[in-house]
Amino acid sequence: MYPSRKVKLGVLVSGRGSNLQAIIDASEAGRIDAEVVIVISDVADAYALERARKHKIDTAFVDPELYTMQKDFEKAVIDILEKYEVDLVCMAGFMRILSPYFINTYRNRIMNIHPALLPSFPGLHAQKRALNHGVKFSGCSVHFADEGTDTGPIIIQVVVPVFDDDTEETLAARILNYEHQIYPRAIQLFAEGRLEVRGRRVFCKKSEKERRDEKEGWVYINP
Ligand code: GAR
Repeated sequence: MYPSRKVKLGVLVSGRGSNLQAIIDASEAGRIDAEVVIVISDVADAYALERARKHKIDTAFVDPELYTMQKDFEKAVIDILEKYEVDLVCMAGFMRILSPYFINTYRNRIMNIHPALLPSFPGLHAQKRALNHGVKFSGCSVHFADEGTDTGPIIIQVVVPVFDDDTEETLAARILNYEHQIYPRAIQLFAEGRLEVRGRRVFCKKSEKERRDEKEGWVYINP
């Protein structure tokens, strides 16, 4: 059985927060068994904070300038996440690499979204670099965060075509549309307890419905 209680999400942001918005919308529409309980930003005027406030979600700004050691900054973030009893940390345009201290505190309970088909084009300006490289397909990836830059085990990816007349902006917009779909989907798989990490690979257990259907002779071609 799936847990009856909703998974509590703590979302880390640095910018405009469109992925945060997609997660909030999915939660409010009942499409995911999860709710955003706290949004934490490392940028004081990140628009993402305003989005959260509009939905009466608690927000916090943790000022990195106040801390000389990364660990102390992260401890301040973790203190807030613990206060809100967060089950899953979602990085949504959070432009910081987390240290092993943070990763180990929430190992396999931190997701990140990246606008490229990882392991290609990790880090900044992924869409621009994909375009300049001349790839015909790019995409987006939701993955569990590890100590590296966009290197953790991949949960979901979507392939997005690159067109001849694409600019960085048009490609980014096409990819973003899919980001907004796969992030809530990955969160729901987590909420249903269906994700299993084995080494670098993430396996998705069948849903109860899929198991029931299979008993009745249905075959899933592409689960
Ligand atoms: C998104 O495209 C996300 O994939 C990317 O930043 C953007 C944030 O947009 N993240 C990374 O590049 C992480 N390496 P948003 O604030 O509107 O969600």
